[in-house]
Amino acid sequence: MILKPQAIIFDLDGVITDTAHLHFLAWRQVANEVGIAIDETFNDSLKGISRGESLQRILQYGGKAGEFTPEVCAQLAERKNRLYVHSLRQLTVNSVLPGIRELLMTLREERIPVGLASVSLNAPTILQSLDLSACFDFCADAALITHSKPDPEIFLAACAGLGVEPQQCIGIEDAQAGIDAINACGMLSVGIGTGLNGASLQFPSTEFLTWPCLSALWQHDK
Ligand code: BG6
Ligand code: MG
Repeated sequence: MILKPQAIIFDLDGVITDTAHLHFLAWRQVANEVGIAIDETFNDSLKGISRGESLQRILQYGGKAGEFTPEVCAQLAERKNRLYVHSLRQLTVNSVLPGIRELLMTLREERIPVGLASVSLNAPTILQSLDLSACFDFCADAALITHSKPDPEIFLAACAGLGVEPQQCIGIEDAQAGIDAINACGMLSVGIGTGLNGASLQFPSTEFLTWPCLSALWQHDK
């Protein structure tokens, strides 16, 4: 039996820090400006989805798919990003979700490699604001990814960067698209939040996410 996972791979938005809400506020404003109203429930379907694809989903939701040229779409996505990046100024070292910093420190002590699999192009800046960059051994580069979650591409890139096999790793996600991506590459999946299907283990919030729980999941499944 293999006693420890080869790596733990984290999503960022909604797992490490609550930027999911900031994404929502920025999209809500841009959507409003083109006459589309979105709410938090719809926003759940954008979690783990790249900026460009999120815009397309919003336009489709508002019955405006195909109404804007690629240039205007690029401007809308850029405007959303400016609003979002501005809101990131409020992030501090205290914006890390409960239990996450402690878990990352324990994984260091246990010598378990840690990876990041976020499709956000802002991920490196966010980790810096949280003073967590040094806790990650490898962060997959979202700029090199062609498919958003639920495609497993970003998780496979994180595994490749760490030099580990997906089947020997645990992935942690707050979005259904993310759980599907983790499962698609044969990793064990841990879900954060409610309403997720198919996670190997699920917690209502990050404060319950501890190394003993992850270790128990590993021993049970492997
Ligand atoms: C994901 C978020 O982590 O990153 C999505 O869950 C977001 O909501 C995506 O659209 C891309 O983020 P960014 O920062 O590159 O616009
Ligand atoms: Mg997320």
